[in-house]
Amino acid sequence: MIKLNAVVIGGGMITKQLLLPVLLQEKKNGKISQIIVASRKKITIQRLIEEFPEAEIKGYPQIKDENPYAWKIALEKLQNPGIVIIATPDDLHAEMTLFAIEKGFDVIVQKPLCLTVKDAGKILESSRKKGVYVFTDFHKRHDLSLRAVQYKYKKGEMGEALCCHAWHEQRREIPLKYFRNWCERSSPLEYLGTHYIDMFYFVTGLKPVKIIAKGQKKLLVSLGINAFDSSQVFITWSNGAVEYLQTSWILPEKNPCLSNQGFQITCTEGEFRADNADRNSNFSTTKDGYEIFNPYFFKPYLDWNKPDTDQYLGYGADSVIQAINDCLRINEETNNLDKNQAFEKRVQMISEFEKTRPLPNQAIISTAVIEAGKMSMIKDGAPVFLDENLIPHYE
Ligand SMILES: NC(=O)c1ccc[n+]([C@@H]2O[C@H](COP(=O)([O-])OP(=O)(O)OC[C@H]3O[C@@H](n4cnc5c(N)ncnc54)[C@H](O)[C@@H]3O)[C@@H](O)[C@H]2O)c1
Repeated sequence: MIKLNAVVIGGGMITKQLLLPVLLQEKKNGKISQIIVASRKKITIQRLIEEFPEAEIKGYPQIKDENPYAWKIALEKLQNPGIVIIATPDDLHAEMTLFAIEKGFDVIVQKPLCLTVKDAGKILESSRKKGVYVFTDFHKRHDLSLRAVQYKYKKGEMGEALCCHAWHEQRREIPLKYFRNWCERSSPLEYLGTHYIDMFYFVTGLKPVKIIAKGQKKLLVSLGINAFDSSQVFITWSNGAVEYLQTSWILPEKNPCLSNQGFQITCTEGEFRADNADRNSNFSTTKDGYEIFNPYFFKPYLDWNKPDTDQYLGYGADSVIQAINDCLRINEETNNLDKNQAFEKRVQMISEFEKTRPLPNQAIISTAVIEAGKMSMIKDGAPVFLDENLIPHYE
């Protein structure tokens, strides 16, 4: 059986809390061979090696204490079949994805794919040209509560979308602690909003045409950080439906869960509403206090067969595993073919995956909305329109 060599770029929160536990599990399941992490600082790699001894991580930078291009060395050395997992600040995704595609490696990129339609277009074009699989990790597509909406919508049971309200808000530790050094280059709209923009598209298949967004700067600015606290976006979709999306990342530290979030959609034949944070399974412990607990995202459980081992389950893992499985299938089905036949087979498989997965042809939708939203927000709610190629422009 083929195994993938994985390079993870970025050694921050999502790498530590989700990607390495998943990769380690998939290594034990025989799907991953080597796990390599490339981050900016050598100390980050050393800490991850200590925290995940079983993963036998190889890391970059190896010589200098700090190197913002260590990821390029890792990709130069990556052996086929290789997969590159990008988990760096959002504004670095495009350059890293394009480089990995040029090297011919399949890619999993954390949401959002990138921040501009121009970059998303380049990624789409070069990934198709090179026959490379590029998957954006929109894990909410794997939340069965939300996937059920897509099912009923596509089966015609909901009728046609009219309007939607989605909200996604996180505790202030996100901009204050986890990525203080890049939150000024992002916003709650780009960092959080991207999920429920993708969700509306995933459910309905409609295209966004007009965006109006407002943002507020009060709390973070008072703490010396020039970033938006919150944002509200009105997205008009191609059939005239309107989605109202509310995001913020300044919830109090004592909020009983990291994320408050939910999705409501009204259609001509029915309505769906869900609180995707409160799943009615809550803890109160002396260690953590009162906790609104979402067991479905990504949590450890006792492994049925090795109860002294943690098994991580949930839609956060399922999304990454879907992409790993797709890449394994591509490699298995092209393994014994000559170069031309392998390329044709790759292109054919990727064009099938494009219909159902957040490959660049789908991930570009939320990139277009966040780019237009940012343009609108900095002009205090000026309308921004998307043309037939999703290029945003003021009137
Ligand atoms: N899927 C999810 O649930 C989820 C959750 C949180 C974040 N994210 C996304 O994952 C990405 C990373 O977020 P995070 O929360 O881990 O951020 P983070 O700030 O905790 O980590 C980012 C990491 O990238 C590293 N980095 C920065 N510049 C680099 C460079 N030039 N080369 C190599 N490494 C570099 C930093 O040193 C850090 O280790 C973002 O795109 C974010 O939007 C996804």
